[in-house]
Amino acid sequence: MTKTILITGASSGLGAEMAQQFARLGYDLALCARRTSRLDEVKAAILAAHPERRVEIRALDVLDDDQVFEVFRGFQADFGTIDRIIINAGLGKGAPLGTGRYDVNKQTAMTNFVAALVQTEAAMEIFRAQHAGHLVMVSSVSAMRGLPKSMTTYAATKAGVAHLAEGLRAELHGKPIKVTVLYPGYIASEMNDGVAAEQKLMVSTEKGVAAMVSAIEKEVGSACVPALPWAPLSLLMKHAPMPLFKKLI
Ligand SMILES: NC(=O)c1ccc[n+]([C@@H]2O[C@H](COP(=O)([O-])OP(=O)(O)OC[C@H]3O[C@@H](n4cnc5c(N)ncnc54)[C@H](OP(=O)(O)O)[C@@H]3O)[C@@H](O)[C@H]2O)c1
Repeated sequence: MTKTILITGASSGLGAEMAQQFARLGYDLALCARRTSRLDEVKAAILAAHPERRVEIRALDVLDDDQVFEVFRGFQADFGTIDRIIINAGLGKGAPLGTGRYDVNKQTAMTNFVAALVQTEAAMEIFRAQHAGHLVMVSSVSAMRGLPKSMTTYAATKAGVAHLAEGLRAELHGKPIKVTVLYPGYIASEMNDGVAAEQKLMVSTEKGVAAMVSAIEKEVGSACVPALPWAPLSLLMKHAPMPLFKKLI
């Protein structure tokens, strides 16, 4: 039987590319984000390449709690079963704390952490009722350690996301509901358009997402993606003494 994957933040970047790559693997898709015209384009591209796939789209602002539950339940009603939910919607805004930009830090905290919590609640409701499912949460290598300046809030939100996933993994160990947390390194997307040129470790969207898809398909508990250089680098980030850490970042 064809399996279905729900992806949030599917209108661009990693979410849109995951949709393409999972369609190629034979999955049906439930895609959501705020920009529905972009979702229409993603759907059209998938159906042009894979006319046998089923793709449903819904508008979703993850900051609207009620809408998150409505959209997730709506997709479950559409497909009957949702086999995997990928909590991917996020943003990368930020400013050094205490510099008058609480607005952007709050927006990042609400979108990346509080809205990830709401999405997790809605996803787990579905999976607990089905007694099965695979929850995937998109954290970041920036979750490995507190980061300075414009990254401080973002890194804290991604550490929070990782802890939600790890807590669920501990709860659900040995049970039919699986949980994966991904720690992507730099992968080209709209979020990091501005830094792409100067970031030597950045990989293409296709390559970075292929590493994500491979880890998700294996249902690993957690993975840095791509594994190289990020698995060893993340250990260094975690454990380096502060003078070395400051040189790395
Ligand atoms: N690219 C990287 O190097 C990298 C590294 C580590 C982690 N990540 C994580 O990967 C995830 C995807 O990011 P990306 O790099 O693909 O960036 P992106 O191209 O900017 O995509 C972000 C996605 O999130 C959605 N989104 C943002 N705010 C939303 C809201 N309020 N409601 C619903 N959807 C919302 C956007 O859709 P709409 O604007 O249409 O709503 C868009 O589809 C994020 O969680 C990010 O933190 C990325």
